This record gives sequence, structure tokens and C-alpha cells, in this order.
Amino acid sequence: MTRHFLRDDDISPAEQADILDLAVALKRDRFSTRPLEGPQTVAVIFDKSSTRTRVSFAVGIADLGGQPLIISTANSQLGGKETPSDTARVLERMVAAIVWRTYAQSGLEEMAAGTTVPVINSLSDDFHPCQLLADLLTIREHKGSLAGLTVTFVGDGGSNMAQSYALAGATAGMHVRIACPETFKPGASVVGDARAIAEKTGGSIAVVHELNDAVAGSDVVVTDTWVSMGKEEEKAERVATFGPFQVGAPAMALAKDDAIFLHCLPADRGFEVTPEVIDGPQSVIWDESENRLHAQKALMVWLLERAESSTSRR
Ligand code: CP
Ligand code: NVA
Repeated sequence: MTRHFLRDDDISPAEQADILDLAVALKRDRFSTRPLEGPQTVAVIFDKSSTRTRVSFAVGIADLGGQPLIISTANSQLGGKETPSDTARVLERMVAAIVWRTYAQSGLEEMAAGTTVPVINSLSDDFHPCQLLADLLTIREHKGSLAGLTVTFVGDGGSNMAQSYALAGATAGMHVRIACPETFKPGASVVGDARAIAEKTGGSIAVVHELNDAVAGSDVVVTDTWVSMGKEEEKAERVATFGPFQVGAPAMALAKDDAIFLHCLPADRGFEVTPEVIDGPQSVIWDESENRLHAQKALMVWLLERAESSTSRR
């Protein structure tokens, strides 16, 4: 059965560790594995803007011997005129995999249900699982391992990044704290799913509504924009609500002395994080950004190995 990667818990703890190991190997020897030799094509579809995701998938697909086909929904039939499942049935006759950045998680589920080629979520309103593979790789590089570390996500608890931290962090056996306003907390079902995983991996999930206690003693501090794509109309309300959750030097001083800071980017300096933190010595954002490439290549190799043979791969 073809495997898809729509949410962080679509892979088991052992599978997550295998993909991260493969990412380390591919980072060391970038052109060692070429499963897309042909070149085979991977469709990379965008309903929302992107810099890192677009570039890292395009470069990663080329590194693996394939060619990326970047599709903007604005000038395709997807997004109103054609369903995700019909689109998938067309694409699978020609491409080896589909990568899609979109709004509703349900669209990704519909696409995956209708196709034999792997579908990868490259950001939805609910999850950003490719970013989490890159973040976990970065944390592993800087801390040596993942299980048992305390990672605190600060900001919009209902965002794709916060919810992915809950699921992926639990999968890795981490203690995940989400510090967010009461009105912007993660979905109850996501927290429930993450807690069920954490019970098996030795991790934990805490959702708190105060910054300082949450950050105290953390190994890793993470934040993200207060205004995710699609939420622009709520900007004024969000900026007013999230003010007490800005990651600045006083908050970082409460974390462990060797704590690292992550941000998936793009960043709004002066809002969710101060320049002295994001541009300071504890920040590992550029490693994190580069690791999108290595982590996603590993993910694609892993998924392609498990895909049913499709027309494009015959
Ligand atoms: N972090 C991230 O996904 O960046 P882009 O929106 O630039 O792809
Ligand atoms: N939470 C952000 C992540 C951007 C990469 C957004 O959805 O806009």
C-alpha cells in the first residue's frame, strides 16, 4: 500500500527515526541516492505562497535525479474547477509523487485517498509535517538526540506549526509544551492524539497560557508568525492578543543555558520574536532552513520505496 505523509503521526516513532537517519546520510553525501532517475517528475502544488518549500522541494527532487513540476493553483484547474481526487487520478498517470501546500486538511485526505502515488503535505492550515522533520533533524544535530528533551512552542497554539510540534514531538519522545493564549490553543483531538503517542514514547504534552513557566528549563524554544497564511484579516486582533507571548531575551534567559531557538520562517521581527533572539547566538534558524532539503529528500526516498508501481514508474 502506498504511504502518504499528511500529518506528523502518519509515521511511527521507528519510521520517524529511520527517515531522520536517512536525512543525515543524504546531508553527508547529497547525490548518493537517485530514485527519481529518468528523470521522473514530482508535482509540487501551491495554493499559498512559499520560498523555502518551493526551493527545497525543487532542489531536492533534482538531487534525487528527477524533475520538479511547480504548479500554482491560481492557474490550474485545482481550486474550484476540479476536485482533488480527479486531479490526483490525472497526475498519477504521469508523476511519481504529489506535494501539495493547501488550506484544508480534508483536501489532502481526498487527494491521497484517490491516488496510488505518495501525497506529501507541504503545509496545510492544520499541520506542517515536512517542517517538523527539518526541525527534528536540526535539534538532533545540535543536541545529539531527541527523546527526553523539553521543547516549548510559543505563540499560536492552533497553528499548523504548534499542532505539528505536538504530534511530531510526541512521536520523538519529547516533552512538548505549547504556550499560547486561551483563545488560540491546539485542537482537542490533536492534543488527544499526541498524548496517546506520548504515553508510548515516554514524552508528554502540556498546553499552558503563560510564557515564563513554559519556557523555564527548556532545551528548545520555538515560535512562528502570529498571523499564518489565510489569517491576514485577523492581524490586528492577533497582534493585540499575542503580545505577552513574544520570545525575547528575558524569556530565553529562563530556558537552559544551552537552549537553542528555532523558527520555521518567514519571521516578523519585533512581533513573535525580538531581533536579538532570532539573530543571536542561540538561534539555529539557518541550519533549520537548510535541513528542509535533506529531510524532505529522505522523506521522498522513503515514500517512493513504499509506493505501489504507478504508470510513471513502470
Ligand atoms: N517554513 C516554510 O515553510 O517557509 P515557506 O513558506 O517559505 O515555504
Ligand atoms: N504558520 C505559518 C507557517 C509558514 C511557513 C503559516 O501557515 O503561514
